[in-house]
Amino acid sequence: MSTGAGPAATGLRMIEPSDPVQLERYYELRWRLLRAPWGQPRGSERDELEERAVHLMACNPEGEAVAVGRLHFNTVTQAQVRYMAVEPSWRGRGVGRLLLRALEENARHRGADQMVLDAREAAVGFYEHCGYRAIRPAHTLFGTIRHWQMEKALQSCAPTDSVRS
Ligand SMILES: CC(C)(COP(=O)(O)OP(=O)(O)OC[C@H]1O[C@@H](n2cnc3c(N)ncnc32)[C@H](O)[C@@H]1OP(=O)(O)O)[C@@H](O)C(=O)NCCC(=O)NCCS
Repeated sequence: MSTGAGPAATGLRMIEPSDPVQLERYYELRWRLLRAPWGQPRGSERDELEERAVHLMACNPEGEAVAVGRLHFNTVTQAQVRYMAVEPSWRGRGVGRLLLRALEENARHRGADQMVLDAREAAVGFYEHCGYRAIRPAHTLFGTIRHWQMEKALQSCAPTDSVRS
């Protein structure tokens, strides 16, 4: 897909995983891309906020997960993205940007005016391309993966906007 094309142009669908098969695919991709390479076991890809977070997943026509990302609220107006990951064969084709935009839109419609995240150092450039600003160094994961705290102001919703899932 060329950058900026919608999911329909690629055959991808953006869904909120809800049934057991979708949820397994969602968490498996998160684990495989963000935890397994560092020797972390299944289960380590989840935290205590899953139940009250928004989960988005881009799926191919076979229903397989090709990208995942999560949104939760820190305050009434500040939302946070975590666990963004795109299947390597799909990277560089605009899927990450689409997923992030969908998370931002969801956050705006729920009242957020600011998005924050801790970006892996290798992903800082991606978030900068998507309008984020690095604020300060953050934690180091598994002793090696340095992170940067980043933020972006979200434009307020027009009164006529409707919630899209
Ligand atoms: C970071 C990641 C989510 C980006 O997804 P992607 O689908 O490849 O990104 P996109 O194709 O939507 O890229 C959007 C823009 O960011 C740029 N970009 C993408 N990855 C980049 C990177 N690592 N560094 C700098 N720029 C990057 C693209 O060139 C594109 O630029 P453009 O505006 O000129 O077109 C993906 O590479 C990934 O899953 N990485 C491994 C897991 C990870 O680190 N996740 C983040 C955890 S904080």
